[in-house]
Amino acid sequence: MSSKVPIFTLSNGVRMPSVGLGTWQMTGDEGKTVIRNAILAGYRHIDTATLYQNEDQIGDALAELFAEGVVKRDDLFITTKAFCHEVAPDVIEEALRNSLKRLRLDYVDLYLAHIPAATRECGSHRTDVKVEDIWKGLEKLYSLGLTKSIGVSNFNESQIERIVKIQKVPIHVSQLELHLYLPQKAHREICKKHSIIITAYATLGSPGRMSVIGADGKPLFESTKNIPNELNDKNVKALAQKYNKTPVQILLRATVDMGIVVIPKTTNPERMKENINLFDFSISKAEVNLLEAHERSKPERLFWWPNVSEHPEDPFAAER
Ligand SMILES: NC(=O)c1ccc[n+]([C@@H]2O[C@H](COP(=O)([O-])OP(=O)(O)OC[C@H]3O[C@@H](n4cnc5c(N)ncnc54)[C@H](OP(=O)(O)O)[C@@H]3O)[C@@H](O)[C@H]2O)c1
Repeated sequence: MSSKVPIFTLSNGVRMPSVGLGTWQMTGDEGKTVIRNAILAGYRHIDTATLYQNEDQIGDALAELFAEGVVKRDDLFITTKAFCHEVAPDVIEEALRNSLKRLRLDYVDLYLAHIPAATRECGSHRTDVKVEDIWKGLEKLYSLGLTKSIGVSNFNESQIERIVKIQKVPIHVSQLELHLYLPQKAHREICKKHSIIITAYATLGSPGRMSVIGADGKPLFESTKNIPNELNDKNVKALAQKYNKTPVQILLRATVDMGIVVIPKTTNPERMKENINLFDFSISKAEVNLLEAHERSKPERLFWWPNVSEHPEDPFAAER
């Protein structure tokens, strides 16, 4: 089944499946079963992060699947990310080595700086660290062979241009929030110019975000609660009906057709199959354009990362 998933090639030749499994909010013991189900359903790409606190379960599941001969390490594309307190160049190598221990792997396929703003473990800002410094730290990990490719997440366009000016290793991937109502056209242009592959997060509008509780005991995403969900978009629903697919499948397939990797998260085995079985129909270019033409007049960002507002490298300072 996995052979049907188109493979994208990064600028250094590394092959990345265009559909992966997102794992934010996949926690606790269920993680092991979820990963097993995903591999059996054909997933070969898994997206995790220190922040998600599930690298241990993913590592346990993979070790079992390797031992049983279900899948080989080489068949998989594993991404993890250094969180704010791990991105500074003086701590990032230890962060990746710790992730590798938890994942029980010798290398990851992609290591991302989760966010361009460095903090201390307690959360206080490290204003001494610039995105150029973060990039130099990632380049070192790449040269050590601890990761097959490196990239950025939640970096804005000017931060990407600053890295391009000083990079010795190019940015292979940029992961960012991207969905029908946040089409990220400027970001797509800049990534095309610099041969950077984009991974979209929250392609389904991240409905599970509403259950996240912040440090103050209140829902962390309260301010985005009334943003309409793309799964109810009338054009998406019309195409779903036309092709006898679900709105989820239309949104995911349209995004992959734009050359963008998707990593929908689900712990539900049936949805897992639905989210990867996207390649037995096709949407015409005109239909993709029609979907895009109906973007809302104002971009609808769901993830604002309030913990880094006021940081000199806050990627969303201009939009807040
Ligand atoms: N780099 C970053 O800063 C960043 C930020 C956010 C996310 N991410 C990554 O991107 C991944 C995806 O983003 P996301 O998890 O926020 O949002 P998403 O993939 O847009 O949405 C996931 C939610 O949709 C539900 N869902 C999944 N498949 C479905 C289906 N077929 N039908 C109906 N509902 C479905 C899931 O619930 P169930 O599990 O109950 O099915 C879950 O609540 C994350 O898991 C994470 O790996 C990265």
